[in-house]
Amino acid sequence: MRILVTGGTGYIGSHTVLSLLESGHEVVVVDNLVNSSEESLRRVGELAGRTAAFHELDLVDESALESVFDQHSIDAVIHFAGLKAVGESVQEPLSYYYNNIVGTLNLLRAMDKHGVRSIVFSSSATVYGEHNPIPYVEKMEIGANNPYGRTKEQIEDILTDLGAADERWHIALLRYFNPVGAHPSGKIGEDPQGIPNNLVPFIAQVAVGRREKLMVFGGDYDTPDGTCLRDYIHVVDLAQGHVAALDYVSARPGVHRWNLGSGKGTSVLEMLHAFEQAVGRPLPYEITGRRSGDLPAFWADASSALADLSWSTTKSVEQMCEDHWRWQKNNPFGYRQS
Ligand code: NAD
Ligand code: WQD
Repeated sequence: MRILVTGGTGYIGSHTVLSLLESGHEVVVVDNLVNSSEESLRRVGELAGRTAAFHELDLVDESALESVFDQHSIDAVIHFAGLKAVGESVQEPLSYYYNNIVGTLNLLRAMDKHGVRSIVFSSSATVYGEHNPIPYVEKMEIGANNPYGRTKEQIEDILTDLGAADERWHIALLRYFNPVGAHPSGKIGEDPQGIPNNLVPFIAQVAVGRREKLMVFGGDYDTPDGTCLRDYIHVVDLAQGHVAALDYVSARPGVHRWNLGSGKGTSVLEMLHAFEQAVGRPLPYEITGRRSGDLPAFWADASSALADLSWSTTKSVEQMCEDHWRWQKNNPFGYRQS
């Protein structure tokens, strides 16, 4: 198939483009590079031995998007493009709603107009909000507690309404847990701009000397070691989950929802210690106050993806840290030179 990947130069997008190319698909990427670099795609091309077509454009520009559908005969779309920082979304809700919702509406309208009605969407575990018991199961009521998460929930609603209104649509809503790690080649990986919001990129920058120490946000939670538990998933497993979901929905119309996670929780300190093992030395850290909005613990019930897609995670927390470290060590400033 020829797959349009929005946000395909980003962290999860670039790994998924590689998996798609390796699975024999043709790939067209659109991205406005607001949080990524075209260098990721150049390296994906090196790894795959063939390249994806690239168009630098913003999804809020409907006519630019239309011209991509005019130029390429697209069979299906994987939609990653969006802003994703929870804290920033609380400060700048209008930017988040505009970018994520308008961008998605433009995409869906262009798809409909061109008769392309298969889409795999990047949702997030954050849609489960704060009131659900763990592990999270797809059939639970959702209700995000921050503007970023609400954009994901609202896009899920839009896609659900679309699937209900028109049975020609094939829709996958993928709720990712905590993606970490990098391709084992060390050539592509996560390249956050500024101070990393997420745990593993922060630890990696401490390890490479860009940050003094890790601040562990809260050591007094009701968990085995007092720090929060999360369901970390290797980005290569996640990328393969997209290929599996795409294969499944291409053959079946309707709206399908899957958690993509490992089904088990790992604490902040366990993650730090696994990263120290990968690096081969202890890393400085300090336990500080809780971060507002953090939940003590959550992980996926990952059984639906296994049953429907024959997909499950294959890589351990140790492999996530080894691969993330290889990427960070070889590229201390990410895709930039300094
Ligand atoms: P990322 O920032 O690396 O990738 C997103 C890409 O979208 C970037 O390359 C950015 O330049 C592009 N983009 C943003 N707005 C755009 C627009 N209007 N037009 C064109 N391109 C635009 O993030 P990621 O970690 O690869 O996440 C990919 C998707 O998965 C996002 O939708 C994110 O919300 C979702 N997600 C991420 C995580 C995570 O922890 N990384 C977890 C759950 C869900
Ligand atoms: C993990 C744990 C922190 C940084 C976020 C989004 C979620 C999804 C995945 C997009 C928590 C602790 C972190 C640090 C720390 N993204 N931590 N020191 O918050 O589970 O999920 O990313 O959809 O929507 O909210 O991930 O990596 O930020 O935090 O102690 O410097 O690490 O408190 O317990 P989170 P995270």
